[in-house]
Amino acid sequence: MQIYTDNAVKNFSIMAVFWAVVGLLVGVIISSQLIWPELNLGLPWTSFGRLRPLHTNAVIFAFGGSTLFATSYYIVQRTCQTKLFAPGLANFTFWGWQLVILLAAITLPLGYTSGKEYAELEWPIDILITIIWVCYAIVFFGTISKRKVKHIYVANWFFGAFIIAVALLHVVNSAAIPAGFFKSYSIYAGVQDAMVQWWYGHNAVGFFLTAGFLGIMYYFVPKQANRPVYSYSLSIVHFWALIFTYMWAGPHHLHYTALPDWTQSLGMVFSIILLAPSWGGMINGIMTLSGAWDKLKTDPILRFMIVSLSFYGMSTFEGPMMAIKTVNALSHYTEWTIGHVHSGALGWVGMVSMGALYCLIPKLYGQKNMYSTKLIEIHFWMATIGIVFYIAALWIAGVMEGLMWREIDPFDGTLTYTFAESVKAKTPYYMARLFGGLLYFGGMLIMFWNVIKTIQNKKLIASKIPEIS
Ligand code: HEM
Ligand code: HEM
Repeated sequence: MQIYTDNAVKNFSIMAVFWAVVGLLVGVIISSQLIWPELNLGLPWTSFGRLRPLHTNAVIFAFGGSTLFATSYYIVQRTCQTKLFAPGLANFTFWGWQLVILLAAITLPLGYTSGKEYAELEWPIDILITIIWVCYAIVFFGTISKRKVKHIYVANWFFGAFIIAVALLHVVNSAAIPAGFFKSYSIYAGVQDAMVQWWYGHNAVGFFLTAGFLGIMYYFVPKQANRPVYSYSLSIVHFWALIFTYMWAGPHHLHYTALPDWTQSLGMVFSIILLAPSWGGMINGIMTLSGAWDKLKTDPILRFMIVSLSFYGMSTFEGPMMAIKTVNALSHYTEWTIGHVHSGALGWVGMVSMGALYCLIPKLYGQKNMYSTKLIEIHFWMATIGIVFYIAALWIAGVMEGLMWREIDPFDGTLTYTFAESVKAKTPYYMARLFGGLLYFGGMLIMFWNVIKTIQNKKLIASKIPEIS
C-alpha cells in the first residue's frame, strides 16, 4: 500500500475552510456598507475602499489559494502513485502562504496598496509570494518527475499550467520601483500599465480561478461519481484550447479606453472564442455523470460539483456576451459585472471547492464520511439559494442602472436621471444581495462546524491509518 505525505494537504484544507469563513464575512460586511454607509464607522481602516480588497484577497488567495494548494498536493500524489517531492518544502509553502495572508490582512486595512486590482500587495510581500511560488513549483513538478506511472493525468496538466501562468503573471505585473518599504511605482506607464494590469487580471480569472479549479474538477467529479471522465480526448482539447485562448482576452476589461481599438476588438474576438473550450470542459464534467445521474439524488457532495459546473457554464456564457463592445457599453461600471463575478466566484469556484473539501477532509482524518451528511445537504441548499438571490438581484440592478444612465429626455436632450437617483434605485437589490450573501455565509459556517466535528471524531479512532485512494 502506498502511503502519501499529507501534512501540507491537511493544513491547507483546514485553513481553506477557515479563510472562506473570514473572506465571506468581509463580503457580507461590505455588502452591508453599500446599504448603510454608517457601517464604515467613520474610520479609515474599516472603510469600504480598504475592506473591499481585503475581501477579494481573502476569498481568492486565502480561501481559493489554500484549496488549490491542498487539492494539487493531494491529487498529484494519487495520480502519480508517489509521495510528494520535498515534503519539507511543501510545509514551507503552507507557512509561507499563511504569512502572506496575514500580511495582507494587516497592510490592506492600513491602506498600503499598489492600487492594482487583485495585485494590491506591496513589493516586499510580492517578493515573498514569488519565493513561495517557486517552492510550490519545485514540489509539484518534482512529484510529477518522480511519478511511478507513465501517463500524466489531465488534472495535473491544469495544475501545472496554473502554477506556471500565475508565476509569469505575478512577476510581470508586479514589476515596480520601490519608493520606501511600503510604497512602489509600477515600471509601466499610462495605457501600457492598464494593459499589463488587465492581462494579469483576466488571466488571474483564467488561471487562478479557472485552470486550477478545473484540475480539481477533473479529479473529484469522476472520483465522487465513480465513473471515468466522459471523454479523455475532449479533456486534452479543452486544456490546450483554454490555455491558448485565455491569454488574449484581457483587453475586454478596457473597452472604450485609450487602448488602441484593434486591441479591444482582438480581446472581444478571443473572448467569444473562449466560450467553446469553456463549454467543452463544462460538458465533459457534467457528462461524466452519464449513467450515474441517480447519484445526485442521494449524494449532496456530487450535487455541489454539478451545480458548480452549471454556474461555470453560465458565467462563461455571460462573460463572452459582456465582452461584446456594444453589450459592454451597457454592462461596464454596473452591478452586472459584480453579478457576473459572483456567479463565477460563488457558483463555480466556491461550490467546486466546497465539494472537493467535503471529499478530502474525512479521508485525510481517517474517516469514511463527514460528521453529518444532513448538514452538507443543508449547506448545499443555503449556498445554492444564496447564489440565486445574489446574482439575480445584481443582474436586475445592473441592467436597470445602465439603462438609467443612458436615458435621455427626448425634448431637451438632458439626462433623465441623476447618478444619485440610480444609486438610490439599487437599494432593494442590495438588500436582496445581502440576503443571498448571508445565506451563503451561513452555509459556510455550517461547513466549518461539520469539519471541526469530523476532525474531533478522528481522536476517537486515532489509531486508524488514514484512508488513501
Ligand atoms: C457571502 C458571499 C459574498 C458576498 C456577500 C460578497 C460581496 C461582495 C461585494 C459587496 C463586493 C464589492 C462589489 C462592489 O464593489 O460593488 C465584492 C467584490 C468581489 N468579490 Fe465578493 N462576495 C462574496 C463572496 C465572494 C467569493 C466566494 C469570491 C471569490 C471566490 C468573491 C470574489 C469577489 C471579487 C473578485 C470581487 C471584485 C469584483 C470586481 O471588481 O468586479 N466574492 N464581493
Ligand atoms: C469565457 C469566460 C469569460 C469571459 C469571456 C469573461 C468576460 C468578462 C467580461 C467582459 C468582464 C467585464 C469587464 C468589464 O466590463 O470591466 C468580466 C469581468 C470579470 N469576470 Fe469574467 N469572463 C469569463 C469567465 C469568468 C469566470 C469563470 C470568472 C470567475 C471565476 C470571472 C470573473 C470575473 C471577474 C472577477 C471580473 C471583474 C474584473 C474587475 O473588473 O475587477 N469571469 N469578465
